[in-house]
Amino acid sequence: MSKTFFITTAIDYPNGAPHIGHAYEKVFADVVARYRRLRGDEVYYLTGVDQHGQKMQKTADEEGVNVATLAKRNTKKFIALWETLGLSHDGWVETTDDRHKQCVQKILSDLHDEGQLYKKSSILSYSVRQEQYLTDKDRNSDGEFGPEWGEVIELEEENWWFKLSEHVEWLRGAVESGTFGILPDFRRAEVLNALERTGDTDLCISRPKERLHWGIEIPFDPDFVTYVWFDALINYVSFAGYRKDEGSDLPEFDELWPADAHVIGKDILVPAHSIYWSCMLHAMGIPDEQMPTLLVHGFWNVKSSSGDEEKMSKTLGNIVDPAVLAEQYGADLLRYYLVRDISTGKDATFDPERLVMLFNTELANDLGNLLNRSLTLAKRNAPCHTGYDDDETKALRESLESATATYKTAMDAYDIAGALKAINSHVVHCNGFLERNKPWELAKDETQADRLATVLYHVCESCAHLAVLLSPVLPASAAKIRSQLRFDPDQEAMLADLQWGLLPPNHQTGKPKPVFPRIDTSKED
Ligand code: MSP
Repeated sequence: MSKTFFITTAIDYPNGAPHIGHAYEKVFADVVARYRRLRGDEVYYLTGVDQHGQKMQKTADEEGVNVATLAKRNTKKFIALWETLGLSHDGWVETTDDRHKQCVQKILSDLHDEGQLYKKSSILSYSVRQEQYLTDKDRNSDGEFGPEWGEVIELEEENWWFKLSEHVEWLRGAVESGTFGILPDFRRAEVLNALERTGDTDLCISRPKERLHWGIEIPFDPDFVTYVWFDALINYVSFAGYRKDEGSDLPEFDELWPADAHVIGKDILVPAHSIYWSCMLHAMGIPDEQMPTLLVHGFWNVKSSSGDEEKMSKTLGNIVDPAVLAEQYGADLLRYYLVRDISTGKDATFDPERLVMLFNTELANDLGNLLNRSLTLAKRNAPCHTGYDDDETKALRESLESATATYKTAMDAYDIAGALKAINSHVVHCNGFLERNKPWELAKDETQADRLATVLYHVCESCAHLAVLLSPVLPASAAKIRSQLRFDPDQEAMLADLQWGLLPPNHQTGKPKPVFPRIDTSKED
C-alpha cells in the first residue's frame, strides 16, 4: 500500500472569514486526499491555521480584543467552514499549540548550537504615521515608499538571522535536478530566477518583543520572538511528529515524512516555501531524498464592475464568502464548482453565473436526469444483464471503461477538471443510450423483456460506478446516489473494485429522489 502525506498551508486571515480562494485550496486537497484513499493509499491530510504575527497583533489592538481571543475566534470560523465543506483532514494545525511551540524552540536551539544563527544590527524603515515597520513589499514599482506611509524614518534594530545564504547553492542544484520537486514545471523557472536575485542575503528570523509580543519566544534570547514565517513553516513538520516529546499523540515523523504533495498558492512560492522552507529543512539536516514536493495552485480572482479580472481583497470589498455560497447552494455544489472551473496551476475567475450553469447542465440535467430516469424505470422492471447484447450495450461499456481510465489518469495528475469532464462524457453517453433504446417503449412489449432488463442494467450499473468515481468531489451526493441504488451503503468499494457487475442480477434499486434539484435562476434576486 502506498502512503500519501498531503499538506496544505496554515491559513491566516486576521481580519475576517476565509474566502473562496482559501476554500478552493482546502477542497482541492480534500478531493485528492479522498481520491487517494479510494485508490488504496494510506493518506494523512494535514491542514490548519497560522495564528501568530504582526497582522494578528495589529488587528487585535485595533479591535481592542486580546490577541489570543482573536486567534480563537478566527480559528472557530475556519473549523466551522471546513466542517460545512466536508473536509476529511487527518491532522489539524494550530500554531499556538504547545506541541508546535516546543518543536519550533527545539529547531531554533539546534540551529543555534550548529552555528546556523547569529545576531546582528540592521537598518529598518519605519512609517511614523502608520506606526509600523515597512518591508520592500511596501515599496511602489519605482522602489519608493508611497505617500500613504507619511514620513518614513530609518531605525537600527538588533535581531537573530539564519544563514540562508549558505544553503542557496545547494538549493539551486536541488531545484535544477528536481530533488526538490516543484509542480507544475513552469514554476521551477520562477524559483531559479528568484534565486539569482537572492544571492547572499540571510533571513532575519526574530522580532524584538517590545514591538511584537505575539509569537514564539526565542529559547536562548527571551527578549525576542520568532518571525511569523519561520514559526508557521515549521507546522508542516511539527504536526507530523518531528522532534516530538515521548508519549505525544502526534504521528511518527519517520513514517510520514516527506510530503508527497505540499499544496500552496502561487503567492507564497517565492520566497517563503521555495527558498526559506527548503533551506530551513536542509539546515535541519533533512536529506535530499526527503525533500517534499511543492504543488503550486493558481488564484481565484473576481470580475470587477468594469468586467476585468481583479484580485479579491478586503479593501476592494469584493470578497466572495464560501460560507454564504455553501448555505445558498449546498457544500457539494460549491466543491464541484471550485475544482471544476479551474485548471490546476492556473488562475480562474469566479463567476456565479457559471456556477449555476455548470450545476444545472452537468449535475441537474445530465447526471440528475440519468439517475432519475434509470431509477424510475428500474423500480418497475428489475435491471439484469441477461444474455442480450448489441452494439449499443457494448459501446456503453466501452464508454464507461474509457471515461474511468481518463478519470484515473487525470486524477493521478491532479487534473480534477479533466476527471470531471470525463465523467460527464459518460453521463451524456448514457442519456443518449436511453434516448436511442427507449426502455419506456420496450416495457410495453413483453417480447423485449431481456433487452429491457439489459438496457436498465447498463444505466444502473453505470450510476453505481459514477457514485464511486464522484465521491471524492461530491461526498454527500455520492452517498445519496448509492443509497437510492441500494448499492454499497458502507462505501467500501475502492477504485480497483470498479469492474462490470457491481450490481447483482435482478438487483432491486430504491426510490428515486432528486439528488441535484435544478437551480431556478428566475426566482433569485
Ligand atoms: N499563513 C500563510 C501560510 C503559512 S503556511 C506556513 C498564508 N496564509 S493565507 O491565508 O494568506 O493564504 C492561505 C492559502 O490560500 C495560500 O496557499 C494562498 O496562496 C491561498 N490563497 C489566498 N488567496 C487565494 C485565492 N484568491 N485563490 C486561491 N488561493 C488563494 O499565506
